Amino acid sequence: MAYLSTDKVEHHFHDVVIIGAGGAGLRCALQLAEQGHRVAVVSKVLPTRSHTVAAQGGMNAALGNVSSDHWHWHMYDTIKGSDYLGDQDAIEYMCRAAPQLVRELEHQGVPFSRLENGKIYQRPFGGQSREFGEGGQASRTCAAADRTGHAILHTMYQQNLKSGTHFYEEYFALDLITDDDGCQGVMVWDIAKGGYHLFQAKAVILATGGAGRIFQTTTNANICTGDGGALVLDAGLPVEDMEFFQFHPTGIAYVGPLITEAVRGEGGYLVNGDGERFMERYAPTAKDLASRDVVSRAIAIEIKEGRGCGPKKDYVLLKLAHLGEDMILSKLPNIHELALRFAGVDCTKEDIPVQPTAHYTMGGVPTNRFGEVVRQHAGADDAVVPGLYAVGEGACVSVHGANRLGGNSLLEIIVFGRACGNRVMKRLKEHRYHPKLDADCWQDGVARVRRWLDGAGDDVHGNGHGERLAVFRDEMQAIMQRYFSVYRTDKVMSEGVNQIEALAERMQSLVIEDKNSVFNTELIEALELENLMALARVTAAGALARKESRGAHARDDYPERDDVCWMQHTLASILNNKVSLAYKPVRTVPMTVDTFPPKKRVY
Ligand code: FUM
Repeated sequence: MAYLSTDKVEHHFHDVVIIGAGGAGLRCALQLAEQGHRVAVVSKVLPTRSHTVAAQGGMNAALGNVSSDHWHWHMYDTIKGSDYLGDQDAIEYMCRAAPQLVRELEHQGVPFSRLENGKIYQRPFGGQSREFGEGGQASRTCAAADRTGHAILHTMYQQNLKSGTHFYEEYFALDLITDDDGCQGVMVWDIAKGGYHLFQAKAVILATGGAGRIFQTTTNANICTGDGGALVLDAGLPVEDMEFFQFHPTGIAYVGPLITEAVRGEGGYLVNGDGERFMERYAPTAKDLASRDVVSRAIAIEIKEGRGCGPKKDYVLLKLAHLGEDMILSKLPNIHELALRFAGVDCTKEDIPVQPTAHYTMGGVPTNRFGEVVRQHAGADDAVVPGLYAVGEGACVSVHGANRLGGNSLLEIIVFGRACGNRVMKRLKEHRYHPKLDADCWQDGVARVRRWLDGAGDDVHGNGHGERLAVFRDEMQAIMQRYFSVYRTDKVMSEGVNQIEALAERMQSLVIEDKNSVFNTELIEALELENLMALARVTAAGALARKESRGAHARDDYPERDDVCWMQHTLASILNNKVSLAYKPVRTVPMTVDTFPPKKRVY
């Protein structure tokens, strides 16, 4: 059915359209705009509100400014941290590129903190070693106090303004335009004014960030709704490894905001309800600076076994007052403010109550190390979807595997943002003209909006109107939190999958009350909820199917890692409204160095 005549869809032509204005999208845009390409960045928020702004502790690079270091050790730590699920060619590429790209950021204007000698300040973060784990703790995380993401995002935005990138702010991506030749563009809704826009481009880059909002308690902003993954699923393509969701050990108890790992890097530590420094039992060498999955599991066990703090014994305490007020206010000013606002705690004097909190989507849209979206493993190489790219947290390269190291996220967005820009330039040389599109290519995008603006919803509760969106979303988040949290079992997850699938069936009964086109935030929440539901479904199904413990996926019923059966990436699709799973092997061969074979992870 045609809803509109095409003259109601504004048609734009660009060389490249990038969906999302976080660090990955902006680094990629910069690479292209500096070369004179016509780049559009489409973002549902003002660019400087993108979630990169919330990244605190820093960006890893083996600069060796504080401790001796080498990119090869960084590579080893990242592979070990990933619990051997990371693709080793991509990891080598990232760790080798890191020092050069940090220096480039410095020259672009990122105000990194400084050492006495004027070099970039680097702090220790979790899972960082020297000499392949045998030689102690490295200090590899380059920081701008505890506002590193803020500094990088603003610098990238300024550089893009200078380079002539076109920004379409407060525009929401509805549907990818695909045909037999690949991806040709994207249908978009103008949030502020209402109205449809068709962006035609020779390359479409998804830089839409993570999906933390599938959970109830998360460090992620409300905007982190996995929009790129959902667009890809809707196009019949798979997402990868969604069952690996990182719980950051130190979210503020009950509310979620992030208290950076930098606190522990600077000398803070965790204690349980008995005042014990319990990490010494779980990670005798690295202690509080073990990898995140290890620390989150340790906290979960302390709480489960009755050694938590507070009236309900359901959090632990992060101690940092001993670091001193001067140090806290100069190196950790942001967490001082967050602790005051969200926990009512002055951390120069008191401990911060913390719990593991959903933080980072290790999975995402499958890509190779050039940012090209791949469909499935086809022999030695993955088959590329022409014209479609993904970068940043919404992509799965996969450099994080089953567990990301802190500080590798800001690194990933810069390294692969740039790499993707370079690869897109190659395509632009080969594709000089925009092809003619199918006459009705815009209709699915329009239908997505009309379903909400025209729909009355089913009267499932017999009270005269459809089901309320906010209540439904709360239910979805509660199911994910309850059944797919730090520890998982077959029994618990089976129940979770049943509940999520039953909820998915109820989507049709949902209704929004605001039927206006102009600045209809309820409509945007509905579209985001559709995206979240798709990602919750594949996350749940992938988790239930993976019968082992690896990285962030810890199962009581399968406590060991199984390298024989499960050195595999999950590919999850939604076909005919059913989740279907397939698998492809991990890429264990690096670019130039020897492989790191799997071994037991100890910290
Ligand atoms: O703890 C943090 O500052 C978070 C960093 C990260 O997720 O990379």
